[in-house]
Amino acid sequence: MTEGPGFWITLEGGDGSGKTTQADLLESWLTDAGHTVLRTREPGGSEVGQLIREIVLHHRGDIAPRAEALLYAADRAHHVATVVRPALQRGDVVLQDRYLDSSVAYQGAGRVLDATEVRELSLWAAEGALPDLTVLLDLDPAAARTRLDSADKPFDRLEAEKAEFHGRVRDGYLALAAAEPDRFLVVDAADAPDVIAAGIRTRVAALLAP
Ligand code: TMP
Repeated sequence: MTEGPGFWITLEGGDGSGKTTQADLLESWLTDAGHTVLRTREPGGSEVGQLIREIVLHHRGDIAPRAEALLYAADRAHHVATVVRPALQRGDVVLQDRYLDSSVAYQGAGRVLDATEVRELSLWAAEGALPDLTVLLDLDPAAARTRLDSADKPFDRLEAEKAEFHGRVRDGYLALAAAEPDRFLVVDAADAPDVIAAGIRTRVAALLAP
């Protein structure tokens, strides 16, 4: 990673795969170990990003797939430039919910845009920045749906997509992980949260070891 002395972890996975629970557990562990942790997310990790998040997740009616991809990329460009890169340059551990792999999986595999073009767009937006570690919480979309249903919250635009869309997103993620095994850790999100957390900690500890 060339973004500074810090360490950058992103969490990826379908809606309902348990990213927030794992981010909470990892944040406590990192903080207890003495690290300064910056917790952030895409879309919406900056003030501009909050406005973009409102459009991409809550606009009523269609957004053309390329427009959607550009909105996520715009959020990313501003977030990396104003939040992530400065934190990495300060030496923080950045713990981030979703990054460019979400765009490749959702706008690429999900919306069926060209995956390479979507990735290139994000890399341009973020001036090539890539995380040190990306944790993929892999879960069967049917199991994820059951979790989302029991959460009893209204679905956002992406969550409301059909089962086939979420199946393509999952396959897209697994293809990304297979292509970059050094950057990715794939965990079975059907496991118990503490089992998953232990697996993530083992990998992070090895990477953070001096
Ligand atoms: P979340 O913050 O609740 O995970 O919701 C973000 C939603 O936006 C989720 O359904 C995934 C989607 N998304 C994309 O489609 N492309 C992206 O680049 C990102 C960051 C998120």
